[in-house]
Amino acid sequence: MFRTREVTLREVGLRDGLQAEDRILPTADKLVLLDALAATGLRRLEVTSFVHPKAIPQLADAEDFLAAAHKPPGQVWSALVPNERGAARAAKADLIDEWTFFLSASEAHNQANVRMSVEDSLRGAALVAEAASQAGRAISGVVATSFVCPYAGLTPVEDVVQVARRLFGLGYRRLLFGDTIGAASPAMVRRLVRALQDALPEAELGLHFHNTRGQAPANALAGADEGVRLFDGSIGGMGGCPYAPGATGNVATEDLCWLFEAEGYATGLDLPAMAVAARTAERLVGRPLPGAVMRTFEEVSCSGG
Ligand code: COA
Ligand code: ZN
Repeated sequence: MFRTREVTLREVGLRDGLQAEDRILPTADKLVLLDALAATGLRRLEVTSFVHPKAIPQLADAEDFLAAAHKPPGQVWSALVPNERGAARAAKADLIDEWTFFLSASEAHNQANVRMSVEDSLRGAALVAEAASQAGRAISGVVATSFVCPYAGLTPVEDVVQVARRLFGLGYRRLLFGDTIGAASPAMVRRLVRALQDALPEAELGLHFHNTRGQAPANALAGADEGVRLFDGSIGGMGGCPYAPGATGNVATEDLCWLFEAEGYATGLDLPAMAVAARTAERLVGRPLPGAVMRTFEEVSCSGG
C-alpha cells in the first residue's frame, strides 16, 4: 500500500502546554505566541479549553482570547470541550472548528482528572458529539493514559481499543492516544497502533506524547512508521499534566519537526520560525523550556524583543 510521507503536527502548546505552566499568561501574551506560531506554517492548533475556569485557571480567558485573536486563513483551530456546559460555550465561539473531547483509558486517572467513571465520560462524549453536530463542528477524541496510568500502571491494549471503539461508534473518527506521563516505548506504540488499525481501520489515528523520559521523539517515529500521520506537540515543550504526578510537558513541536524531516517525512513547517516561536514561548512563560532543537538556532533573535 502506498503511504504518503506527510505528517501533520498539531500545536497544543496554547492549551496542553499553558494549562500546566505555573505562570498564568495574560491574554495579550497568548496572542504574541499565536502570531509566532502562525509564522511557522502550522495549520492545526489547539488554542484553548472550555473547561471549568477553577479547574484550569490558565485557560479561564478562553472567550476573551478568542474575541481578540486573529485566525489566519487555512488554520484549523480546536478547543477542549469536556461536557455540555463546555459545548454551549464552544458553540458560541465561531473561530473553533473542532471540539476535542478527552477521557482516560484508565478508571483511576479519569476519576482524578474529571471525577467520573469512564462509562460516565462516554455518556458525556455522546452529548458533546451530538452538540457538535448541531453546531456544525468537527470532533476529535483524545484517550489519555493510553500506555501507562500514574495510578494503575500499564494500561491494557484491550482497554484502549475498547474505549476507542466506543468513541468511534459515537462519531469520533479522529482519535488521538495520549502517553500522559511519558512512559511509553516504541514497542508499546507499535503494539497499540497495530491493534487500533486492526480494530478501527476507518479511524484517523493520532498520537500525543509527553517527553518525561525523553522517548517521545522515538515513540512518534515508531508511530509514523506504522502509518500514523497526526502528532501533537507543544512549542518549546511547554507544559505537563496537573493530574499526572511526574509528567513533564508535551514533546516540543519543533523537535518532532526536525526528526520527521530528517527521516523523510514532510511536515510543511519552517524550522527556523519554529525555533523563534519556541524562544518566544520560553520568554513568555519565564522559565527555560526543554525543547532541544531550538538550542541549535542560537543566532535567531527572539520575536517581540
Ligand atoms: N465550563 C465552565 N463551567 C463549568 C463547566 C465548563 N465546561 N462545566 C461545569 N461548569 C460549572 C457548572 O456550571 C457548575 O457551576 P455552578 O456550581 O456555579 O453551578 C460547576 O462547574 C460544577 O458543575 P459540574 O457539572 O458538577 O462539573 P464538575 O465540577 O464535576 O466539573 C469538569 C467537571 C470536567 C468540567 C471539570 O472537572 C473540569 O473542567 N476539569 C478540567 C479537566 C481538564 O481540563 N484537565 C486537563 C485536560 S487533560
Ligand atoms: Zn497532554
